[in-house]
Amino acid sequence: MHRHVLLARQLSGVVILCFVVMHLTNHALLISSIDLADNARAWLAKPWRSLPGTVLLYGAALVHALLALWTLYSRRTLQMPLIEMVLLIMGLLIPYLLIEHAVAMRLQLPMRGIEPSYLQVLTLQWFDNPVLAIQQSVALIIVWVHGCLGLGRALSANPRFRQIRTVLIAAAVLLPVLALIGYGVAGTETVERIRQADMSPHPPMRPMPESYGGGNMIAMVATAMRSGWVMLIAVVLILRQIRALLARAGSVEISYLGGALVRVAPGTSVLEASRINGIAHYSVCGGNGRCSTCRVRIMASDMPLPDADAAERATLSRINAGPDVRLACQLRPTAALTVARLIEPPQTHLTTAPEMPPEEREIAVMFCDLRNFTSLSERQLPYDVVFLLNRYFELVGNAVSASGGKVDKFIGDGVMAVFGLEGDLPHACRAALRAAALIRQEIAVMNRELHRDIALTIDVGIGIHAGPAIIGQMGFSGNMSQTAIGDTVNVASRLEGVSKDLRAPIVISDEVMAAQDRDRAGLESQRVPIRGREFGLVVWPLRDADSVRFL
Ligand code: FES
Repeated sequence: MHRHVLLARQLSGVVILCFVVMHLTNHALLISSIDLADNARAWLAKPWRSLPGTVLLYGAALVHALLALWTLYSRRTLQMPLIEMVLLIMGLLIPYLLIEHAVAMRLQLPMRGIEPSYLQVLTLQWFDNPVLAIQQSVALIIVWVHGCLGLGRALSANPRFRQIRTVLIAAAVLLPVLALIGYGVAGTETVERIRQADMSPHPPMRPMPESYGGGNMIAMVATAMRSGWVMLIAVVLILRQIRALLARAGSVEISYLGGALVRVAPGTSVLEASRINGIAHYSVCGGNGRCSTCRVRIMASDMPLPDADAAERATLSRINAGPDVRLACQLRPTAALTVARLIEPPQTHLTTAPEMPPEEREIAVMFCDLRNFTSLSERQLPYDVVFLLNRYFELVGNAVSASGGKVDKFIGDGVMAVFGLEGDLPHACRAALRAAALIRQEIAVMNRELHRDIALTIDVGIGIHAGPAIIGQMGFSGNMSQTAIGDTVNVASRLEGVSKDLRAPIVISDEVMAAQDRDRAGLESQRVPIRGREFGLVVWPLRDADSVRFL
């Protein structure tokens, strides 16, 4: 997606989300009383009632709605990952569900000279037209879920966001729940009030006798806009069909090395071409140009390819890609070309088990390494070494499992374990720290026995780091296993090396310390040089006595 389009979508989305947060907060106050919510509305709605606020909010809504139409038009295929499909459908539904309410509320003041109160709106929605109350509740949920999913996707790679993600998720659940409770409680109370008033011998006039679905001018404007939105969607769908018909004549030919040959409309990305034609093609980030798993090598091209934009160049330079490598999700060829997928799903695996695409997750990774193993193995009989290693592996494996982690692999005398394959990052970090503390504790017990039985002791160093990693099935044929790869894994491995340099049994990164919730009194951090990080890394060396708090 073009950078400016993405930016416009994100900025307009943030503006709308700010408004929705204030609106839901106002609804939540209905739990206390309708009067309180009305008083608060004077403040919460004030910024959006001013001229700049109105322009900002309605401008953002217009931009966001038009971008939803643009997305519908510009996608060459409507086959897409579920999350993208959900976001798109919600994006198209929201204007339909909200136009009537938004227009009616906004035009009451200039056209009828009244600022509707909560009581009037609740009467209209809960007494006059209960279907409207249900529709508004559904719209509220859809708007909120759409906004949170969109924001979560945009910020998923941001380390600050990852640190406070749990708090944000809790708030994202709590706020709409409170708002819906407030809306429901106040609606029921309003209906009850009207019924009681109607039974009195002199019923008062109801607060707002006309509903905005009742044929007045406002209702006509609102209904016209809603119909207009449906027509716009229909027009876009028709334009897609026309484009597909026109494109058939001038289609672009893409051949996959050693595989299929497909024809697609000009402007279709190579990844979209794969999806349209059912060709397995990794796209862990969903085609956003961030992960590089869709990358292809250009084997031949009839014409020079369109230049990579800044975002694509940045991703390619991160993996030191050669000049003939491009991201399939960003490359939109205009002439015939031949590509080779560089991360190709293995066919043998596809025929024996359903494809499990790699997934980006936030995990904690622990590396545990036996100190001085080489000299130890030179001094001991091979049988003793095997005995020792097996006891050590068993000890580490038990500690990892008992803490909720998974041993990923054994590397010589080292063990790599991952935490957080299920659950969130704080849990993953706490589990990894607990496993490390358990290992150190059990090593001390084991050393007493080893010293008694074969007159030697062992020592281990542990490094832990946390962050995003790609989790996927790797291997071949019947030797597939789940593993984690990525910068987080590399850094964890390097921290194990740092533990040796710092003469500390355990070294954890600042990310791990920030994500866990145990007291850090008495612990000190320091910045250490680390390969691949220009400014090094802040780490926390832990002694055995320090690690006990994580048990
Ligand atoms: S799908 Fe992630 S970079 Fe293309």
